Amino acid sequence: MTQSNKGSAGAGITVVLATGGTIAGRAEHPDDHVGYVAGQISAADLLSAVPGCSGVPLEAEQVVQMDSKDMALPVWQALVQRLVHHLARPEVGSVVITHGTDTLEETAFLLHSVLQPVKPVVLTCAMRPATALMADGPQNLRDALLLARHPGVGGVLVACAGQVFCARSVTKVHTHRLDAFDGGETGALAVIENGSVRSLHPWPHRRAGSSEHALLAVEQFLAADALPRVALLTSHADADGDLVAALLAHAGEQPVRGIVVAGTGNGSVHQRLAAALLQAQAQGIRVLRTTRCARGEVLEQVGHDLPKISPLSPVKARLALALALLAG
Ligand code: SIN
Repeated sequence: MTQSNKGSAGAGITVVLATGGTIAGRAEHPDDHVGYVAGQISAADLLSAVPGCSGVPLEAEQVVQMDSKDMALPVWQALVQRLVHHLARPEVGSVVITHGTDTLEETAFLLHSVLQPVKPVVLTCAMRPATALMADGPQNLRDALLLARHPGVGGVLVACAGQVFCARSVTKVHTHRLDAFDGGETGALAVIENGSVRSLHPWPHRRAGSSEHALLAVEQFLAADALPRVALLTSHADADGDLVAALLAHAGEQPVRGIVVAGTGNGSVHQRLAAALLQAQAQGIRVLRTTRCARGEVLEQVGHDLPKISPLSPVKARLALALALLAG
């Protein structure tokens, strides 16, 4: 980390919170990139694979050890609780989170929405397990540490394959390529090349007290027993309203309170599905439209009876609605 420390005097301690994922995965064979078990290698061992960490003030903590496909509210609450604790410590300058790639964008968006941190919180990951001959995890972790200690950086960011993305726009777009993430229309915020951060767009501006703009109070999030149930549906050729009818008929412990529909194109919805969604809306279910397109914002259309939420991706729109419903 000799180069990484350029200009980062006084950056304080960087806390590494480990949650598992492929970056901590172990396979039987070094050339096995998919048949591995995620979440096997400890935070301390991950850091020991990163050259040049010895001069950097680091603390490592294992929050969970999991495959992020199974992400759930209690894990998010544990992560938020640890972040609240560490970010309040004056000697801590930044936090790096190691995470599985599969739901990384949801965790990043959740942390951004609930915490709006002033200090940098950088999520990183890997597409190949730690046992791979050419594992990408150590470089990604090194880049994340460099970014976290870079002057002027703040808020929730994602570092993967030499690119830096913001929490609102980052999306996993590839099943197995190392550069699996994309930043939507604006692209990457910065690149990390040759041990230096080169910014391409202004860093998301963070001011002390900006957590007032969080979607809900941290205490409210930490006290929740469950997130309000929000279903995610997609409009497509030959769609109908059967799933909506099934959701409305379900009167279990946690009835559905919201539906996000990933529409076609500019958020258009098949007429049969739209009719069912309007009925759900009339019954008090919050219904929001976004698009299943990877790029572009849903533009306002006169006469559409289903409100839009945009430019969030469908999974982030689902989370945003759940948090809004929790906030009441
Ligand atoms: C996971 O998301 O935990 C497994 C997949 C990955 O990290 O790439």
